Amino acid sequence: MKKLVVATRNRGKLIEIAELLHEHDIKLFSLLDFPKMPEIVEDGDTFEANAIKKARETFEYTGLPSLADDSGLEVDALNGAPGVHSSRYAGETATDEQNIDKLLAALIDLPLEERTARFRCVIAFADSSGQVHVTQGTCEGVIGFEPRGSGGFGYDPVFIVREYGKTFAELGSDIKNRISHRAVALEKMRDVLHKHI
Ligand code: IMP
Repeated sequence: MKKLVVATRNRGKLIEIAELLHEHDIKLFSLLDFPKMPEIVEDGDTFEANAIKKARETFEYTGLPSLADDSGLEVDALNGAPGVHSSRYAGETATDEQNIDKLLAALIDLPLEERTARFRCVIAFADSSGQVHVTQGTCEGVIGFEPRGSGGFGYDPVFIVREYGKTFAELGSDIKNRISHRAVALEKMRDVLHKHI
């Protein structure tokens, strides 16, 4: 069976990527299986730069095809913040709850129509020769006034998808995995993945 390393230690991301790749007949690893691999410094200015860096460094360390996701939330009223800093918006070791609290405080008093936002995901895949392929996906929504729902991870409890009137955390993984930024980016990578693994 072909092997693929997902270049993350984020369990929420990993679960979703495993679900989204279930049709491919592959044995999945993550960086949790390589505890001695040095931390990858995500110092790029863009999702793309960070995704490519993670895929490359993981391929170089493991020698296996590697898939990286760099993603985050862009809020229009905050000029695109937290963006590439989404996971550490409220500080280097911030929890999801702390990041959400900081975001809600930054948007306090703003009406719903001014709370537009999107999730963006860039997937970089280093194939077995080390060549890197890149795709991108987005999902539009608005930031709610308080957290709702218990599914997903990160900012899911405050990200409302207008068509459903529900947050990603309320929608559940079946629907999220059909419409999310990550689902869109991975779908675009589908043919490349089929060809290489
Ligand atoms: P990365 O590991 O640097 O790509 O950080 C991604 C961060 O963006 C996560 O830690 C979350 O805070 C946020 N994020 C990305 N995708 C999602 C999602 O699907 N739901 C909720 N938050 C997300």
